[in-house]
Amino acid sequence: MLRRILEIYTKSTMRNRKKIQFVAVLWIGLMLAGCMSIEQMAPPVGPQFYNIAIKRDTTMALLESGREVYLVDCSRCHSVEPIQRYSMNKWHEIIPRMAQKSKLSIAKSAALRAYIVAVSDLSDIPADLN
Ligand code: HEC
Repeated sequence: MLRRILEIYTKSTMRNRKKIQFVAVLWIGLMLAGCMSIEQMAPPVGPQFYNIAIKRDTTMALLESGREVYLVDCSRCHSVEPIQRYSMNKWHEIIPRMAQKSKLSIAKSAALRAYIVAVSDLSDIPADLN
């Protein structure tokens, strides 16, 4: 299989080589993105959340349930994305829209919001990144 690919590569024109390189880079990128662990996408609620919970006037239990909503309710239609991928401004737009799609209760969507805010505090993402 690899031999065949190499053969095609060496026999192809410069233009096609560029195309093949592009596809290869894209493929490797996708593989790496696919390897991102759940812990990286939605960090477990550990001791590093204590101060944030206090600052945000919330509880570790609420944050934990928010994480569960994210991993369970929010993965019904699509896989979950790393929370850090979006700024908080963007999340404030995404959460209500997706909560409606998921038919989340008010309690569940509040927990989800608290968790996402906490993760965003933790990773120090500027509110207006995107
Ligand atoms: C009923 C199916 C469904 C459920 C449940 C769902 N989503 Fe989505 N989600 C979609 C679809 C469809 C899109 C594609 C864009 C769109 O329709 O807005 C999407 C897109 C997204 C995006 C991409 C960014 C964007 O602006 O579109 C994010 C992030 C996201 N969903 C997060 C969530 C979260 C968080 C939850 C849990 C509250 C959730 N989704 C639950 C269907 C769903």
